[in-house]
Amino acid sequence: VRRIILLVHRVPASGAFTLNDLAGGGGRMDEVARCVSTAFLASNELRRELEMTLLFAPTPPVGARRIRIQGERIRFLHPDERSTAALLKNALVRAIPMEQDVEASPGLVVGPIDPVAELTRWAAAPGAVWLTEAGVAPESLPLGEETVAILGDADDPTPAEQEILERAGVPKVSLGPRSLRASQCVDVWQNVLDRRAAAGSG
Ligand SMILES: C[S@@+](CC[C@H](N)C(=O)[O-])C[C@H]1O[C@@H](n2cnc3c(N)ncnc32)[C@H](O)[C@@H]1O
Repeated sequence: VRRIILLVHRVPASGAFTLNDLAGGGGRMDEVARCVSTAFLASNELRRELEMTLLFAPTPPVGARRIRIQGERIRFLHPDERSTAALLKNALVRAIPMEQDVEASPGLVVGPIDPVAELTRWAAAPGAVWLTEAGVAPESLPLGEETVAILGDADDPTPAEQEILERAGVPKVSLGPRSLRASQCVDVWQNVLDRRAAAGSG
């Protein structure tokens, strides 16, 4: 299974933003939505082997939230970022009164989390890597079939998040000499994995 963990920093976790202002009041939900649609939608096929987890840091009036998206089950995902943002916003709004995970729409599970415990768990997962400009080339790492790529959204991981990743010793992987947008990283990373899979080594 391929997993991607996106650390979302400024999107209101209550879903209290308008689809007409995804970049401003939406806290860069435009980029988060772009990451999701580009992660799952290739030219003419859905990447069913992919699972993506969005970790929303605490934003009053509700606490941290996790949205898990399963490629095997996802429906209603379209290439445009506005409809993807609507899907994610609906999930966040659905989760407001919830104390447990709920499937807000097929393949999209949302619920409350302890963000420190959640990131600590992912950092310890087999195949975890931290996508960062300050890493090594992916070719120098022995990636297996199970990968967990962790990256920031429009912002880098916070100092507290970076400390969790550092403490766990998560290998740092660079996707190139330039600082890329998160959605571009998602594409480049999947290309790395696609090439490995095609060559029979991952
Ligand atoms: C838009 S970037 C964050 C801001 C960026 N570090 C800057 O200085 O402009 C979002 C995330 O993409 C990932 N990223 C960006 N460029 C990368 C690269 N060349 N290699 C690996 N990951 C990268 C990192 O996880 C980063 O936190």
